[in-house]
Amino acid sequence: MKKHICLLPGDGIGPEILAQGKKVLEACAAKRGHEFVFESANIGGAAIDAEGCPLPESTIAKCKASDAVYLSAVGGPKWDAQPPSNRPEKGLLGIRKELGLFANLRPALMLPELAGACLLRPEAAKLGLDLIVVRELTGDIYFGEPRGTEVRDGLRTGYNTMIYNEEEIRRIAKVGFETAMKRRKNVVSVDKSNVLETSRLWRAVVAEVHKDYPEVALSNMYVDNAAMQLVRDPSQFDVILTGNIFGDILSDEASAITGSLGMLPSASVGSSGPGLFEPVHGSAPDIAGQDKANPLATILSGAMMLRLGLNMAEEADMIEKAVSKALKDGYRTADIMEEGKTLVGCQKMGDIVAANL
Ligand code: IPM
Ligand code: MG
Repeated sequence: MKKHICLLPGDGIGPEILAQGKKVLEACAAKRGHEFVFESANIGGAAIDAEGCPLPESTIAKCKASDAVYLSAVGGPKWDAQPPSNRPEKGLLGIRKELGLFANLRPALMLPELAGACLLRPEAAKLGLDLIVVRELTGDIYFGEPRGTEVRDGLRTGYNTMIYNEEEIRRIAKVGFETAMKRRKNVVSVDKSNVLETSRLWRAVVAEVHKDYPEVALSNMYVDNAAMQLVRDPSQFDVILTGNIFGDILSDEASAITGSLGMLPSASVGSSGPGLFEPVHGSAPDIAGQDKANPLATILSGAMMLRLGLNMAEEADMIEKAVSKALKDGYRTADIMEEGKTLVGCQKMGDIVAANL
C-alpha cells in the first residue's frame, strides 16, 4: 500500500522523537512492502519562527491532503511572550479543529517490563492498569465562546465558556461505547454534574446513547472523585469517557501513574478524513537537542496510526512487539531507567526498535 503521511515535528524534543518514529515506520514499510510518502510541515513555535503563526494555511492544506498526520509536540518558554491568539498551542488546537478530530483516544497501559516505574504503592500497582481515556477534543471550555479578558468594575477579569451541545456529546459517547465493545465493556463517564449544567446535559445524553449498547456497563463519576479513584485503584477503569478539559487532566494523571509519560501514545480521529497521532507528553524543552528524550510514545503513536488511521493492524502489532522486545532486552531511556538496565539515547532507542522489526 502507498500512503501519504504528513509529519509535524513541532518544538523542543519534537523533531528528534519524530525522526525515530519515521525511522521505525520506514523500516516497517520496507519489511512489509508498503510505501510511505512523507511530507513535513511547520506547527507551533517552529511555525511562528518560520512563518509568523502557529498554524500556517500551507500546513492545514498538507494535513488535509494526507492519509494521516504524525505529530510530536508543540510549545516552549521561547514563545511565552506571544499573545494568546498566537501561542504554539493554538497550532495544535487549530489543527484538531480544522481536521474535525473530535475523539481523542489515550490508552494508559502498565507494561509488565516497566511495573517498577509505577508511582503507586505496590499493592495498588499489583492490580494493574489498562485503561483508555476517550476525550472529546473539539469542544468544551477549550473552544467555547465568549472568551476573553477585560476590565470589569475596575478589575482585570478573565472568562471562558464551558459548552456542549447534545450532538457533540452523542458522537463522542458513541466512540466511548464502541471502544468499550472492543475491550472489557465498561464505561465510566466523568463529569461534574453536581455543579455544572454542561455536565448535566452530558450525563443525560450519555445515558441515551447507552441504550444502544446494552452489553456495556455504564457508571458516572464526578471528576474530582475520578481523579482520586485513579490513584486509589486504577484497575477499576476500562474506558473513561469525558469532555475536553477533564480528559486533558485525567489523561495526564493516568499516564503519569504508569510512571512513564514518555511511553504513552494517542490518536485523534474524526468522522472522516485523516486522523492525527501524537504522544501524550509535551515538548520537554529542558532536554531538547540532547538525544535524551524517550521516542517510544511517538513510535507507539505510529503504531496507533497504522491500526486506526491506515488500516494496517498487523504492522501496528509488529511495531508494538518491537517496542516490547527493546524493553525486555533491557534498553531504557533516562526517564524510565532502572538499576541493571542499559541506558540508551533517543536515536539508539529508535535504531533498536527499527532493528527489532
Ligand atoms: C494535550 C495538551 C494540549 C491540550 C495543549 C498543549 C494545548 O495538553 O494534548 O493534552 O490541552 O489538549
Ligand atoms: Mg494535556
